[in-house]
Amino acid sequence: MDRPVLLPDKFDVAEFLRDYWQKKPLLIRNPWAAWTNPIEPDELAGLATDDDVETRLIELSRVSLTAEHGPFPAARFGKLKKQPWTLLVQAVDNHVPEVAALIDPFRFVPNWRIDDVMVSYATDGGGVGAHFDQYDVFLIQGLGRRRWQIGGMCDAATPMVPDSDLRLLAAFEPVEEWILEPGDILYVPPRIAHNGVAVGDDCMTYSVGFRAPSRGELVSGWAEDLASSANDDDRFRDTALDPEANPGEISAGAIDALHAMVVEAVQDREAFARWFGRYNSTRKYPEIDWSPEKPITAAKLRKRLAKGAGLYRNPASRFSYVRQDAGSVLLFADGEAFACAGEVVAVAEQLCASDRPALSDEPSPAVTELIAALINQGSVAFDED
Ligand code: SIN
Ligand code: CO
Repeated sequence: MDRPVLLPDKFDVAEFLRDYWQKKPLLIRNPWAAWTNPIEPDELAGLATDDDVETRLIELSRVSLTAEHGPFPAARFGKLKKQPWTLLVQAVDNHVPEVAALIDPFRFVPNWRIDDVMVSYATDGGGVGAHFDQYDVFLIQGLGRRRWQIGGMCDAATPMVPDSDLRLLAAFEPVEEWILEPGDILYVPPRIAHNGVAVGDDCMTYSVGFRAPSRGELVSGWAEDLASSANDDDRFRDTALDPEANPGEISAGAIDALHAMVVEAVQDREAFARWFGRYNSTRKYPEIDWSPEKPITAAKLRKRLAKGAGLYRNPASRFSYVRQDAGSVLLFADGEAFACAGEVVAVAEQLCASDRPALSDEPSPAVTELIAALINQGSVAFDED
């Protein structure tokens, strides 16, 4: 498989991160060494028939856009009317390695911030309507042409079309527009209004999307984790109870002590890092299960590695790590944490940096144990399998 490469003279990463990332939109005209559309329309339609793949079909009628959730039988697309339509398929990178490879040029953004690649296919005039997203996105034109318009910055108060699960803007005023050709990229930061409409049939767009947790999601997620491990005996106790003038008052001292119980618990930074790594690396679509029917043993693994077998990371798996004291790291893979020290650290780093980690053909027992655990939970597999 030829990996897509961005030409540094057409896409300067340092300049992009300084001037545009999370700040303002940028149109990048075909910055690839050689652009090839990574998935054919028929193959995308095939994925849309799969129960395990999240898809939507959006049709434009005379007055409005309507959305329908998949899976869709293959015959469905042939029966669509003349009105423009769009098929959206989520997380295609989880299924198609050529689409997963589209993320690689953007890995100057860390793994934990990367979400997935959504692919759209539209007929002439098709689109999902003017909207805004909470996340950064690189919109890569894969096939055909699309007119992109961008508008201003939106927020929670921006008026939306009522009763539509498409989250459409009630009013959209474009400030700039371009027609994107195959290989062109439009970067759109969070909350910037945008509207893409296919110009001609066979329009395919790849959305390399990112994630940024909201404060609400962090607070509720971590609180749930803390609560699940809390000891029931660890509770409020009166230190010195003074008689209250009014029995209805919760004293300032009681509030201080109660608040301190919560603050103390959430201040544990190490526990937070452990929880966050597991939480963030949990797979969005766990259906693509690579775990072997019979768990691999350390002896069998060693044998296969000695014979030169290579490893391949499940494209649906999520890998990241945090550094800890004394050079050790905590590796996170698909919601599990692995403490790695000594020679295992370099292996953990490799696993996070590359989807085909190069391993020694005579790994140490600790490395073997880690790799066996990752194979058994379906996060990596042998290349030839
Ligand atoms: C599309 O591909 O049609 C929509 C992508 C987006 O606006 O985020
Ligand atoms: Co969007």
